[in-house]
Amino acid sequence: MDSLVGKTAVITGGASGMGRAFADRLARAGMNIVVADIESPPLDIAVTELQAHGTQVLGVRCDVSDAASVQALAARAFETFGNVHVVCLNAGVAGGNGPIETLTEADWTWTLGVNLFGIIHGIAAFLPHIKAHDDGHIVITASIAGLTSFPGAAPYNTSKHAAIAVAETMFSELRDAGSSVGVSCLCPGIVRTRIIESDRNRPEATRRPGVPAAPTPEQLNVHRAVLDIFEQAKPPAEVADLVHDAIVAKQFWVFTDEVYTPAIHERLDSIRARTDPPAHGSLVEVYLR
Ligand SMILES: NC(=O)c1ccc[n+]([C@@H]2O[C@H](COP(=O)([O-])OP(=O)(O)OC[C@H]3O[C@@H](n4cnc5c(N)ncnc54)[C@H](O)[C@@H]3O)[C@@H](O)[C@H]2O)c1
Repeated sequence: MDSLVGKTAVITGGASGMGRAFADRLARAGMNIVVADIESPPLDIAVTELQAHGTQVLGVRCDVSDAASVQALAARAFETFGNVHVVCLNAGVAGGNGPIETLTEADWTWTLGVNLFGIIHGIAAFLPHIKAHDDGHIVITASIAGLTSFPGAAPYNTSKHAAIAVAETMFSELRDAGSSVGVSCLCPGIVRTRIIESDRNRPEATRRPGVPAAPTPEQLNVHRAVLDIFEQAKPPAEVADLVHDAIVAKQFWVFTDEVYTPAIHERLDSIRARTDPPAHGSLVEVYLR
């Protein structure tokens, strides 16, 4: 996009983590901001903080897994600001972890509902509008987990592989149609956010039955170790700079680091050579290597 000043950005999952940083960065670039999130207290805080910096901001409570909720978000955004130009389809959860045969249908429904259908609903609600005025950009937050398949996270991996497929397909269709609308596909490695506390937003109806309320000491130790890794990881503001620059430059792929590049190459090599998927360990194990 040539200029972002005075234009409008909608950010799903904008109340915390990377989405919150996108809101700050795009506000600094002179955009009006629509922050959409399922979690009300952080949403209210985000709106207050953005307003304090002089940004025109609208906060909308929205569940991206619900098509009607995303359509209502779009209606509020159009009514408040007229045209919407940038849409960051970023809301996501790290849900349903464990060996694949132990996962419940609700693990899949919740994770795919937010991470995949959240994107599908966002495209349905905003792309026709942006294509019609032909000045805009859609950012899909995928993950390194969309380019590799680390064990223990089948619903998350599946949702992120699908997110990349959606982004690539949308990019090709827009290019073939001669549209000026841009697409970026963000594939973060590990970023310092609250993603591993995603259960805070898990609807009661999708919780696993029979899972003990208190984690075992061993589970707590693993959790603490993972928390430590996230606390020392790349800050979201750095990712927001990359996203801002990708929107301006119309750049499709956005990677936050090269930590996972060897694992992605190993996977591609195994496809080329028709050999078994590589044994590169978990997301955290590769990060620590
Ligand atoms: N943090 C990482 O290391 C990392 C790595 C790769 C990809 N990602 C992706 O980045 C995106 C942002 O996550 P984050 O890391 O900032 O985590 P985060 O938990 O800090 O932020 C996610 C946001 O999404 C919101 N959300 C959850 N369910 C929602 C729903 N149903 N409707 C609307 N909003 C909902 C949460 O309230 C939260 O504000 C996600 O798509 C995630 O999968 C994160």
